[in-house]
This record gives sequence, C-alpha cells and structure tokens, in this order.
Amino acid sequence: MSDNRGSFTSRIGFVLAAAGSAVGLGNIWRFPYLAAKNGGGIFLLIYIILVLTVGIALMTAEITIGRKTGLSVCSAFKKLNKKWAFVGVLGAIVPAIILPYYSVIGGWVLKYLVAFCEGFGAETAEDGFFGGFISSSASPLFWYIIFIGLVTIIIVYGVQKGIERASKILMPLLVILTIIVAIYSIFLPGAGAGLVYYLKPDFANLSWSGVLNAMSQMFYSLSLAMGIMITYGSYVQKKENIETAVTHIALFDTAIAFLAGLMIIPAVFSFMGPEALNAGPGLMFITLPKVFNSMTGGDFIGAVFFILVFFAALTSAISLMEAVVASFQDEFNFSRTKAIIATLIICVVLGVPSSMGNGAWSGFLIMGMDFLSFCDYISNNIMMPVVAVLTCVFVGYVIKPQAIVEEVELSNTFKKKKLFELSIKFFAPVCIFIILVSQFV
Ligand code: PHE
Repeated sequence: MSDNRGSFTSRIGFVLAAAGSAVGLGNIWRFPYLAAKNGGGIFLLIYIILVLTVGIALMTAEITIGRKTGLSVCSAFKKLNKKWAFVGVLGAIVPAIILPYYSVIGGWVLKYLVAFCEGFGAETAEDGFFGGFISSSASPLFWYIIFIGLVTIIIVYGVQKGIERASKILMPLLVILTIIVAIYSIFLPGAGAGLVYYLKPDFANLSWSGVLNAMSQMFYSLSLAMGIMITYGSYVQKKENIETAVTHIALFDTAIAFLAGLMIIPAVFSFMGPEALNAGPGLMFITLPKVFNSMTGGDFIGAVFFILVFFAALTSAISLMEAVVASFQDEFNFSRTKAIIATLIICVVLGVPSSMGNGAWSGFLIMGMDFLSFCDYISNNIMMPVVAVLTCVFVGYVIKPQAIVEEVELSNTFKKKKLFELSIKFFAPVCIFIILVSQFV
C-alpha cells in the first residue's frame, strides 16, 4: 500500500476528498435527530463550541500525523511510538463497526430516492410509512445489499476519483437545495416555535446525555478518532496549508449540519408537534417527505434531494470501506481481494442484524437498544471518545505538540498554535474524559 501511495495534486483535491468523507448522513440524518431530541438550541451551541475547540485541534493533529509519517493509522502510531500502536488498532476497528449500519441507513435513502423518482413521494409522507418500511425486514435488507454492493463495486474498480469529481458538482448543489428547503420550512405554518427551539439555547434543556451526544456527533461528523483523517493526511503534500484546510473542512461540515437542522426541526413543529422531536433515527425519513409533499413540484425536489443525499452518503461510505480494506492490507498483509472479502464478511455479520433489528429481529435487544443503535452507541459514544483521549495524550505528552507544530509549519506559520497546544494538552482530553465517564455514573 504505502509504496505506491500517491498524493493530492491540488489543495482543493484534498479538501474535497476530506470534506466528502466528512459530509454525509451524519450531517443530514444524524445531526437533526440528535439536535431535536437533545434540546435544540442548547445542543447546537455545545456542538459548535466542541467543533471549534476539540474538533479542529484533533483534526489538525490527525491530518498532521498522517502527513508526517506518510502512513495509514495503525502503522502511523507504530512508527511514532511502538507502545502506542494499540491506539491505531483501536482507531482502525471503529470504521469496521460503522460501515455496516451506515450502509443500512444508506439503503433507506435509496428506498426513498427510488420512491420519489417513481412519483410515490406522497405515499412516503403518509403516517406509518417509514415504520412499515423498516419493520418489513425484506425491503430494508434488499436496499442495504444494493447500497453496500454499489460501494463495493466502486472500491473494486478503483473509480473513487470519478465519484469525487462528481461530488465536486453535487455537493454545492446539495448545499443550495438544503438552503432552499430550509427557507421553505421556516415559513411553514407553526414552524416559528420550532425555529426558536432550534436557535435559542435554553439551559433548562441541558443534560449530560445531550452533551455526550453532541460530542459523539462531533467525532462522527468530522470523521475523527477512527484513523480516517490520518490516512487522508498521509496523502497530503508538504506544501499544503493544513491549518486553513482543517478550518474549511470543519466549517463546511458544520454549516451543512446546521442547515439540515433548519430544514427538519421547524417542519417537525409544523406537521407533527413537539412530541415528534423524540422520533430518533427515523426523524428525517418521517419529516422530509411531509415537507416535500406540501411543496409545489415536491416530487421532483424530493427526488433531487435524495439523489444528492445518496451521493453524500456514498462518498462517506467509500472512505469508511477504504479505511477497513486498507487496514486489512496493511496489518494482515491481505491481498486487495482478500481484504475486500473480509470487509464484506463484517458487513454481513454486523449489517444484517442492524437491518433486521427494526423488523423480524426487533425482539433482540442489547442494553435495551436495537442492534443498529447498539453499533452506533459502541462506536460513537465509547470507542471514539476513548481513541480521542488517547490521541490527545499521545500528541500532548508523548510526541509533544511541538512535533505537530513543526510539521504544520513546513508550509507556513501556524497561527492558532497556542490555542492548539492548550486544546490538545488540556481542554480536549479533560472535556472528552469527563463526558465519557459521565455516561457511566
Ligand atoms: N462523517 C461522515 C458523516 O457525517 C460519516 C463517516 C464517519 C464517514 C466515519 C467516514 C468515517 O456522514
């Protein structure tokens, strides 16, 4: 792998690929339902604070570690310090847990995409449609297989580049369409209360679980604490300005999540009332069809929207699968084919129960959660914070922030150097540790 490692020829190439990994279902599906459930404005506020402090510092550290070593996650930690190699291994396991259930949700998006393209948008807006769909077992499983199949084909034929080129056009379109739908949503009858709920932080809604969810969402959305940004960093040229690249990626990703909330939360108040804020993972699939259904030309807008979301999900899923495949190649010396087969086996073992957990296997709960929610919980609320704390300690006290600063400064001065050092040594690890432990007490 590492011998024929290329590099991004243009800065925009790297920023786009990293943004393509970051922007996905996390922004459009996961962020709005978590914000809705966890107090709206207060969740948004905490989320933004965490991105600006912990998120940006960690992303800088990860991309820089990648560029410094020129290696993917496991080998990168090993090269810097043998004793810390286990952090790389932990980080490499996370995408293997996320990919299967991420693709289940990707399958749901495909289902809606096809429904809208065929002109059945109105049907998807009916009460009970989503529940009926995910509990039907066969249909979600079918769409899951199609989604993971598409991702596999792209990985096998190595046409990621083509997808990235397409997403260069499609991502800006997604932003524009999201803005249009968000504006429409804000002016729906009764949406005002939703707008206030989403934008005005109310400290009465503050809870530990909300803070924990905001943090897990920050890692998830920015594709942090799982080695992905380290691997991307290994492709970055020495003349690249890492500091600006990181700022751009983080702000772009956060802007899209913000807009997605604006599109969905006011509409919840308009069509369903505040009780529906607790809908959980289904929120986007329940709310948006109602929004589209109430618009003139809604079938067309809905179809375009789901196509764009599908592309965003695809670029993220590709980066997840590539990370898993590359780890098998690097760590176990698997051939590319063998590594892909091993990855697909994981997708069957974890993905099928994630999909069936809302249907025929809904009786099977772990810690009170269905299988999909359990995978989401283990990876985002436990493993990522653990990897993140360890990464902070590793950078802050083992290789020292100066090592990162020097690498960043190969191209230009690191303007927020002080903030980075403070964050990676103290603020980030302490914050993450407290939030991580809080869920057990
Ligand atoms: N960040 C992606 C999103 O927001 C999800 C993802 C997580 C992608 C981890 C790659 C790795 O959808």
